[in-house]
Amino acid sequence: MLDFYSETKLDDHKPAISKDELSDQQVINEIFRLKEKLKDKVVVLGHHYQQDDVIQFSDYKGDSLKLAKDAAKLDAPYVIFCGVHFMAETADMLTSVDQKVILPDMNAGCSMADMANNDQIEKAWENIQAATDEKVIPITYINCTAALKSFVGKNDGSICTSSNAHKIIKWALDKGEKLLFFPDQHLGRNTCHDLGIELDDMIIYNPNMLYGGVTKEQIQKAKVILWYGYCSVHQGFNAGQVKQIKKDSPDTTVIVHPECSFDVVQASDMNGSTAYIIDTIKNAPRGSKWAVGTEINLVNRLQDEFKDKEIKSLSPYQCLCTTMYRVRPRWLLETFRSIEKDQPINVIKVSDEVKENALKALDRMLQIS
Ligand code: 13P
Ligand code: SF4
Repeated sequence: MLDFYSETKLDDHKPAISKDELSDQQVINEIFRLKEKLKDKVVVLGHHYQQDDVIQFSDYKGDSLKLAKDAAKLDAPYVIFCGVHFMAETADMLTSVDQKVILPDMNAGCSMADMANNDQIEKAWENIQAATDEKVIPITYINCTAALKSFVGKNDGSICTSSNAHKIIKWALDKGEKLLFFPDQHLGRNTCHDLGIELDDMIIYNPNMLYGGVTKEQIQKAKVILWYGYCSVHQGFNAGQVKQIKKDSPDTTVIVHPECSFDVVQASDMNGSTAYIIDTIKNAPRGSKWAVGTEINLVNRLQDEFKDKEIKSLSPYQCLCTTMYRVRPRWLLETFRSIEKDQPINVIKVSDEVKENALKALDRMLQIS
């Protein structure tokens, strides 16, 4: 995981609360006690993929867009972010310099965010600019390091989430002649296709190949240049699973996250962010049947919350985001204990240099959406 901007190093912190010291239940009780004691100082944010034991402590739950907006409104001195590293970095940039954003486990990264780094993007930009005189607008999915957010801020681009990708990409296509979209090829492809761009007008830039594995002519001809990145959790779903469900249970509606591949999204009935998936199922009629293509903790929670509907995972295999899963109650308790002692651990701090342009891009995104 990339960890350039945090104040503590990955190995500085290992959870010290062993099972001999506190049982699982005692850990939960102790978090409730400290949360109440520190309620004027601490706000907890939680992404929908967090496990139940953790998300029960969140004051605000949401998808990436909602959590970014929530963070921007907070004034508590400490914000504990139960999610992954790029989300905590984003929250740090959107809160004031006096507030501290904490990630309970510094190893909670995002494998997709790690598929594009600053050097690779700068190199790709240089290659693309050398190949074409057309105006290229860079858009990054919010699942990336602050350095990449800074890159798009510096180069007239913006950031998007899965909730506002259509609006942001439309904005970029109105503003320039070509689009460079990173790091998630699937969200880029699915959204551009919805906006009427042919698959033949999209190419893949693979940073692990010489010149991205594309020719100058291909860059000149393309409307959209998609980065070779993906989410290993969502890439696990396949169109065969959708077809099987449609065959076995034709009245089941298949709803997936747009990080799934193009084939899966095309075969499914609906797609959208985690918040969209939750709202759609919440508002669906009693007795309706759903197969959901997203992370398993969220699917399990939907099953528990909406018992009047039949809800199952699209995949027979466990589609778990192992990095989201790293945030455990013991880590959360240790975070609370450190705040109680006024010696916070795992503070995520984006450098001023990176923040300046990254904030421009974040503000642009919030304005457009
Ligand atoms: P959402 O913004 O839809 O919650 O997605 C975040 C994410 O990382 C999905 O894998
Ligand atoms: Fe990253 Fe995929 Fe996990 Fe989302 S589900 S945080 S994109 S690895």
